[in-house]
Amino acid sequence: MTEAATDVRVDVHLGPGEERRLADDVLDGLTKPFKEIPPKHFYDARGSELFDAICEQPEYYPTRSEMAILTQRASQLVGDATELVELGSGAPTKARILLGAMTEGASRRYIPLDVSESALREAAGELIEELPDLSVHGVVGDFERHLDRIPGPLNGDPRVVALLGGTIGNFPPGTRRRLLRSIARLLRPGDRFILGTDLVKDPRVIEAAYDDAAGVTADFNLNLLNVVNRELEANFDVGAFEHVAFFDRRRQWVEMRLRATRASTVWIEALDLQVEFAPGEELRTEISAKFTPDRLRSDLKAAGLDLRQILTDPEDRFAVSVSGPVGSRAG
Ligand code: SAH
Ligand code: TRP
Repeated sequence: MTEAATDVRVDVHLGPGEERRLADDVLDGLTKPFKEIPPKHFYDARGSELFDAICEQPEYYPTRSEMAILTQRASQLVGDATELVELGSGAPTKARILLGAMTEGASRRYIPLDVSESALREAAGELIEELPDLSVHGVVGDFERHLDRIPGPLNGDPRVVALLGGTIGNFPPGTRRRLLRSIARLLRPGDRFILGTDLVKDPRVIEAAYDDAAGVTADFNLNLLNVVNRELEANFDVGAFEHVAFFDRRRQWVEMRLRATRASTVWIEALDLQVEFAPGEELRTEISAKFTPDRLRSDLKAAGLDLRQILTDPEDRFAVSVSGPVGSRAG
């Protein structure tokens, strides 16, 4: 489905039948001994709003640290690119800075891709108001499956492809490298890939970021059960689960889980499935990997990307790296 306005176009590649994906993920994930649901299902309209609220919590440093880097180094990061392709774009806060550093003019273009149609349309609307020369071609889709739907460049100018917010850390190592590899294939010589990664640091700082005092992250995590209840006609008692976040020091990632506070039985009508939770049993909903420069370098290399720069914030909490396709140093 495509819909055209004057300078905003949005292609939707998720539609009816897409609930099937959630259904398959929930069926696979809740019938395993260690229960798990993948994180892309967090982002219904309410989930996207809650995520934006997480970014404003005092404990959630990644957004502020990454913003500091983007703000200070924007023109260096975008170079002479005229198009920004942003994967998992969400709210347009970061795009605004990168697009703002590009030369004004007819070729300035924003290509956001996100699973959340509401967040994407809102972002497109806001940016078009602020930057009247901008054109937007949004893609509602899953970056694990729909990178081939990203429109090609309108002219020979270089492009920036961005994956920010530490989103790459939400994938386990194998999938992470596969995703980076498919991103590498989007790049032509002269294009660059800007990746935001959170860095390894004091576990107390990390754990607080995923368990804010106001309980916004807890609400975000628990909202996943509302999504399953609504989309798959399930009857999770959301009050019978609590938010858990801890830093796994060996694997260097945060795990987010939902813990059953008492025994509960859940009926999932759309799957004809009954699932039992023992008291204290946990369901994993997300990992968020933290990086060292070495780990970052080796992941990029394994994906066929040539790391050119690592920029960090003054407190060394977060890194924004610039890489390009191997064997094309120009640009
Ligand atoms: N880039 C923003 C948002 C990060 S939150 C920032 O840096 O603050 C992660 C975003 O990725 C959300 O907007 C979510 O809807 C989107 N997302 C998560 N999984 C996705 C997937 N598989 N495909 C496309 N978008 C996805
Ligand atoms: N990409 C974000 C991160 O890893 C996503 C995120 C932040 C998140 N807080 C969360 C996901 C809480 C689930 C629950 O930092």
